[in-house]
Amino acid sequence: MRIFLAIYLFAVIAAVSILGFRGSTSTKPPLEVFPDMDHQARYKPQAENEFFADGRNDRPIPAGTVARGNYFNQVEVFSEDFEDEHLGDTVFHDGKNADGSFVQAPPLEVTFELIEQGREKYAIFCTACHGAAGDGNGVTKPYGVLAANYHDDRLRGESDGYIYDVIMNGKGLMLPLKDRISPEEGWAIVLYVRALQLSQNANAEDLTAAQRTALGL
Ligand code: HEC
Repeated sequence: MRIFLAIYLFAVIAAVSILGFRGSTSTKPPLEVFPDMDHQARYKPQAENEFFADGRNDRPIPAGTVARGNYFNQVEVFSEDFEDEHLGDTVFHDGKNADGSFVQAPPLEVTFELIEQGREKYAIFCTACHGAAGDGNGVTKPYGVLAANYHDDRLRGESDGYIYDVIMNGKGLMLPLKDRISPEEGWAIVLYVRALQLSQNANAEDLTAAQRTALGL
């Protein structure tokens, strides 16, 4: 009985002393009973390395390396029958003619679905700064940075290629978005910007008589 009590007491004290320290913090490295693969031989970035003649861990890109394609077409560009369509179609990809001037109209068939796609992408990529109506009334306004209002005369007069170029390559304080918007989406957004412009500048005379009656004008 005495032995049992001694063991019992020992077990209680051991349990309390081990579990009692749960939750207390320490600046010492933790005890690692099973280190698993935590510590492995590896090269640290930007560190020295005697193996290479220049003594650097990070290896420079081999001379003559050329970037191919982008985020949207990684798979195709590494296939053997890849042709860089961008080179042959600057109108679609850059919104520019061969002589560098901006194209006047979008180089793809304008459909309702495409405009709808533009509306969706506009809400994702543009509304925050330019406002849902495109009047520049977005989150940057309180900070004194006015994102452009699409309804001013200059922007209404700009070509579609120009608007496309602003979206893809940015302008002034506006960031370029071509790393996250495909050319087709870019043109879809241009169409939606045009729709927004029309929404604030349409004349009743532009409508047919039937449409005017339907609207009660
Ligand atoms: C982070 C905020 C921000 C986002 C997102 C943004 N813009 Fe802008 N945008 C600006 C600012 C700021 C300007 C004014 C640039 C300047 O003149 O310095 C501007 C200017 C413009 C202009 C006018 C260029 C000119 O000639 O004055 C157009 C057109 C435009 N943006 C379209 C878009 C479209 C379309 C999208 C979405 C695909 C978009 N922007 C997304 C901030 C933004």
